[in-house]
Amino acid sequence: MTNALDAGGFGVSAESSATLPSRWYRDPAIWRLEHEAIFYRTWWYMGHVSDLPRRGDYLTGRIVDQNVLVVRGHDRVLRAFHNVCSHRAHPLLEGSGNTAFITCPYHQWTYGTDGRFRGGRGCESLKDWTAGNADLKPVHLEDYGGFLFVNLDAAAVPLIDQAGRFLEDMHRACPRLPDLVRACRWEVDVAANWKTVIDNNHECYHCDANHRSLMELVDYDGQADWSDDGITFSHRIAARDLDNSAYRLEAADVEQQEALFGYIWPTAIPLMYPGSPHLAMFQVLPTGPETTRERWDFYFTSREPSDLERRFMDYVRTVLVAEDVRLCENVQQGLHSLGYHQGRFVVDRDHPEYSEHHVHFFQSMVLDSLKSVTA
Ligand code: FES
Ligand SMILES: [Fe+2]
Repeated sequence: MTNALDAGGFGVSAESSATLPSRWYRDPAIWRLEHEAIFYRTWWYMGHVSDLPRRGDYLTGRIVDQNVLVVRGHDRVLRAFHNVCSHRAHPLLEGSGNTAFITCPYHQWTYGTDGRFRGGRGCESLKDWTAGNADLKPVHLEDYGGFLFVNLDAAAVPLIDQAGRFLEDMHRACPRLPDLVRACRWEVDVAANWKTVIDNNHECYHCDANHRSLMELVDYDGQADWSDDGITFSHRIAARDLDNSAYRLEAADVEQQEALFGYIWPTAIPLMYPGSPHLAMFQVLPTGPETTRERWDFYFTSREPSDLERRFMDYVRTVLVAEDVRLCENVQQGLHSLGYHQGRFVVDRDHPEYSEHHVHFFQSMVLDSLKSVTA
């Protein structure tokens, strides 16, 4: 195992460190280790309180290979559970909806929306069994400013205690954050390891050459205001030109002046751009050693987007994301090259607009997490 975690020239100082070895981005052994070391002990965004306003409303989601459900009980309390039946492991709920009881489609064992086992045909005759043992297994759920996060580690430190300042930053950038509702969800599959996608997201060294429209929209030149929070970081950037080629803005449309590009370890990326009050929750969902699904949830003040909001979403989907997906898939190919093993980080902390020290920050988190389960 020591060998599997050989990080070569990776070091604690970004300035003198090599990047993580290319093997870390394709090796099934690293992928397997990441489950216990990262995926099963970190906070994962699942949805929003406005998706579950009524008793019995539910939504389902996944933490990589773990099915999870979130449901509002008849006592109005939101709870999360492993989405699996205690009888013989069939998943319980699919998608989202409303239900008075949670009934397994396989043999119809039934649970309350509080997770308590309510009955199953023939269960009275079971020996050495108590109904309480069949209750759904709870998952740690947190309402983080209306955004619902789950963590499979029951002992996990609450997100608000680790990332309170980041939530304040989001409120400052979007005072109407509490009014936002999810208007649209969009997904795209990427032929790249999840870390390739995060690495790419964590620097704008590539932006001048690859995101021409974005560079017209926001003023990256030395105006980024960064803040770090341990497991999060964010930077705020002023709008540059309302008449840009990303999506045109009228002065009257611009309630949100700045862009805010954020990150919540390991896979949630809340983003705001100049325009109407909104938040785009970009999720990097690992699906295999070399495959990732990007999911984008767009939040606005109404479930019916305005013309401006439609133009904004079109730009994100058809231009910005397409530009980054191409880069990530190309890099993933390159990570197979016999001519490449480890690269370097270009670091200039006085010029965060192109510095790559947040890529180093992320890769350090990955390395430390993996070491913590193999020590
Ligand atoms: S697996 Fe759910 S009732 Fe049998
Ligand atoms: Fe990019």
